[in-house]
Order: sequence, then C-alpha cells, then structure tokens
Amino acid sequence: MTPSYVLVTGGGGFIGSHTVVALQERGLQVIVVDDHSTSSPAALDRVAEVSGVRPLLYSLDLNDRGALNRVFSMHRIDAVIHFAARKAVGESTEIPFEYFDVNIGGTASLLRVMHEHGVHRLVFSSSCSIYGDGAPDGTPLAETAPARPTNPYAWSKWACEQVIAQGCLFHPELRAISLRYFNPVGAHPSGLLGEDPLGEPRNLMPYLMQVAAGQRAQLTVFGQDYPTADGSAVRDYIHVCDVADGHLVALDHLDDIPGHRVINLGTGIGTSVLALRTTTEMVTGRRIPYLLRGRRRGDVAALIADAGRARREWGWQPRHDLTEMCGDAWKFTRANPHGYQALSAV
Ligand code: WQD
Repeated sequence: MTPSYVLVTGGGGFIGSHTVVALQERGLQVIVVDDHSTSSPAALDRVAEVSGVRPLLYSLDLNDRGALNRVFSMHRIDAVIHFAARKAVGESTEIPFEYFDVNIGGTASLLRVMHEHGVHRLVFSSSCSIYGDGAPDGTPLAETAPARPTNPYAWSKWACEQVIAQGCLFHPELRAISLRYFNPVGAHPSGLLGEDPLGEPRNLMPYLMQVAAGQRAQLTVFGQDYPTADGSAVRDYIHVCDVADGHLVALDHLDDIPGHRVINLGTGIGTSVLALRTTTEMVTGRRIPYLLRGRRRGDVAALIADAGRARREWGWQPRHDLTEMCGDAWKFTRANPHGYQALSAV
C-alpha cells in the first residue's frame, strides 16, 4: 500500500525538491526536514509555486535526535525518503570526516528515530559512485556489481546501505529500497525549480550552464587520458524529474520484498565530459570555452547503469533524453542566473 504521509529529509535540495513536487502532485502529504547547509529555503517557495502546496518544513540537523524525535512525535509518518547528505565527489576528498558525520551519522540517527516511532518504510538516496572504477571500459553496471568506492562520498553511501541492511536484518519489520542514482541533471520543465549549487558548482552540468550564461569564463575538463573515446570521463546522465518519479515508484514497491533492496536509477547511456559540452553548446547556442587539465581526485573513467532491474521489477524506465536535460537546465539557468537568490533573465 502506497504511504500517504511522507517525511522527506533534504527536501530543499536539488533532487529532494523535485521529488517533493512529484509527491505533492500525486496528493501525498509531505513533511520536509532540512538543515539548509547545501540548499536554499527559497527552494520550497518554488515547490509551492509549481505544485500549489507548500510542504511543512522543519529546519534541523539529522544528528540532532531530540529535534528529529519531536517531528516524529507531532506527525503521522508512513514512510521516509532520505536525501539529506553532502554529495560532491571532489569536495568529499577535502573534508572526509564531515561527509562521514553528515551522511553516515545522519542516517544512523534517522533509522533510530524511525524505529522508536514505529516508522518502518524507507527509500534511501544512494549513489552509483559506490561502483567506483568497476567498469572503466564503460560496461553498464548492475546492482550485483561489487562495491569499489574510490572517494569518501562513495564510501559514505556504501556505509549507509550497510547500516540500513543491518537494520532490516535485525528488525525485519523495516523495509528499505536504496536507489543508486547515476548522474541527475536538468531541471523542472517550468523553469522554476533546478540545481542551485550555492557558490562555485562542483558538478559538471551546473558549471556548464554558468559558462553558457557568461558567469564563468570557461570549463575546466578534469582528465583527458581516460580509456574512453575522447579521453574525458563518461557518466550516465539522467533527468532529475525521472529520478524524482523513480522515488514515487519505489514507494509503491516498498512492501513487495522484505528487507533491503538496491535499484539503479540510470539511462544506460554514457556521455563524456566533452560530449556534454558539445550538447550544451548546441542546446544553448552559446560557446563553451574549455581547458584540459589533469584528473580530479576520486574520479573514475566511466559509470554507466545497467538499469534493467527497475524495468523488469517495476516496469519503469527514464523518459527524458540528454537534449531535454540540457534544455531544461538551460531554461532554469536563464530564468534564475543567480539561483534562487535573485530573479532576472540573462
Ligand atoms: C562528472 C564528470 C568530473 C566538473 C555525481 C554527483 C554524486 C553522484 C554521482 C548521486 C567527472 C567532470 C566536473 C567540472 C569536469 N550522484 N567535471 N569539470 O563526480 O560523477 O558525481 O554523480 O548520488 O552525487 O556528484 O559528477 O558532475 O561532479 O562530474 O570535468 O567543472 O565531469 O571530473 O568526470 P560525479 P560531476
């Protein structure tokens, strides 16, 4: 039975906010908890504009178990979707302990409070980065591929999955699905909701958009000697609205199988950094100057999803292609050149 009351941690973030819109458009009651360390409170204003409903918001740190307990005490919660985390591969190599504290500590705290309040349904925001350098030749990776995390971010997500799996093992009433996203990009087609990186973007797509918008002079391409067609790294980019939709499908399937289940969310299509740059130039009509530099610490050559399990078990697959991802990202960037902070078109 699909839950009616859903608590979303990190609901003010990029993927979280798009998922809150999808949940509310389906008529579910949403409560958001977010510490706004990597998201803007304004994102929920946009969620209200797009979906017509402003979710309840509690500003708190998941490691503050007292505050979290109070939220669970005040509200009916049928299921939790847990996004709240630090999520930049490069940054995680600079501040690993913050990543472990926020991502692993926050997840353990959430699981404990959920258990204490009899909430036994969880969808967890996991990551393809767990696969590490498992397929430098670009072979699509299935959920059965071994975990080879190569950076603190990926390690933290792998550790969270293990904690959740142990929780399901010793508390069989707990049912959880870990969604291993590949590279979520793009924006809501309205142009009102998108990736608002707060400062210099660490991820490729928002950086490309800021170069196209004339806010950054050029793209730095990290790595030109990978064993790929053009030497730059390959990723499986998936539209953020497809990722959001995947969470609603996961909620529908939480009761299918006892215990912990892992599902890839990807398209199965790999795109290199240089190819994404070319697509961005084509879609935006803007030049993207670039500089070839060395590899970024923690990066891998290629990460492409074998997305067959979601298709076989759920009859679900992504619907948007790379041109739509770039086009929607560009529409959001033009309408919000400085993110959620100011309104002016480029
Ligand atoms: C992609 C490629 C960079 C910036 C992301 C998310 C992570 C997870 C997995 C969900 C890499 C290169 C980047 C730039 C560049 N998603 N790059 N110049 O590292 O695959 O991780 O997807 O859980 O949360 O962070 O994405 O966009 O940072 O990098 O050349 O200015 O683009 O080196 O090869 P990544 P990314």
